[in-house]
Amino acid sequence: MAQSSASTVTLPTGEAIPKLGQGTWEMGERANARKSEIAALREGVELGMTLIDTAEMYGDGESEKLVAEALGDRRDELFIVSKVYPHNGSERGVQAACERSLKRLKTDRIDLYLLHWRGGEDLEGVVAGFEKLKRDGKIRHWGVSNFDTDDLDELFSIDGGDACATDQILYNVARRGPEFDLLPWLLERRMPAMAYSPVDHARLPRGGALEKIAAARGVSAFQVALAWVLQQPQVFAIPKAADLAHVRENRAALDLHLSADELADIDQQFKPPKSKRSLEML
Ligand SMILES: NC(=O)c1ccc[n+]([C@@H]2O[C@H](COP(=O)([O-])OP(=O)(O)OC[C@H]3O[C@@H](n4cnc5c(N)ncnc54)[C@H](OP(=O)(O)O)[C@@H]3O)[C@@H](O)[C@H]2O)c1
Repeated sequence: MAQSSASTVTLPTGEAIPKLGQGTWEMGERANARKSEIAALREGVELGMTLIDTAEMYGDGESEKLVAEALGDRRDELFIVSKVYPHNGSERGVQAACERSLKRLKTDRIDLYLLHWRGGEDLEGVVAGFEKLKRDGKIRHWGVSNFDTDDLDELFSIDGGDACATDQILYNVARRGPEFDLLPWLLERRMPAMAYSPVDHARLPRGGALEKIAAARGVSAFQVALAWVLQQPQVFAIPKAADLAHVRENRAALDLHLSADELADIDQQFKPPKSKRSLEML
């Protein structure tokens, strides 16, 4: 069951990608969880959640290996996102790190390769390295993660920096800071935002609007929170779920459309920002 065109976002190049994918942080780290994590990722792909987010950091490379083991036979259906540490953030460093990720992922290309966060990297070198990887066919798109508006301004002042495809950021109903200036900055440049921790790492507050709406709709508060993120324009989301029931619920959240009254109820509890808030990071 593929996601319909209503459930895609468009990269600046015009390529449509799924609005709902799967995260893999904390996967691949425990031998006794491996079987269920593989089953969860496979079920997600079966349900059309073919965008998979991983990183060299996750499990020190073990998450990328898990993705290969779980989904290697379905590579051509996938849109694989991986991330490079800022301490590998130089022209040569990103190329070497990418080669290591490709080996662990058992593939010849990464669809979207991101700088994981800002941390002492050589940003010009990173852009040059990413562009070289693109020319070599090792990555198809590149982007950044945890970049606030001032970081993006700096990136766009660099030669080639405006080829950035997305910014992967902490964004969910309880963390609405990006709505003030970061999401508009991205929208203006037709760059979709990739929302990580869309159910706030399972720490959403209990009670209140989410549970009220959930009870009325016969769904869970997590599904309401995820549906809210997915309803934002040009935002795509990568919930992580190692539990099969959670995977199925997350897929169902894509079809849950919140009404104007429900959205207003959510705004009452989770107020949209009225001033600049620095971008939070998990
Ligand atoms: N770029 C960055 O700096 C950055 C930072 C954080 C995360 N990320 C990426 O974003 C992905 C998602 O973020 P996240 O893992 O922090 O948090 P998340 O997806 O908001 O939450 C994951 C937690 O919520 C639970 N969960 C998921 N769906 C659920 C449902 N329908 N009902 C009940 N519980 C549910 C999961 O449980 P089970 O696993 O037991 O199903 C897990 O404990 C990560 O895996 C990673 O790929 C990127």
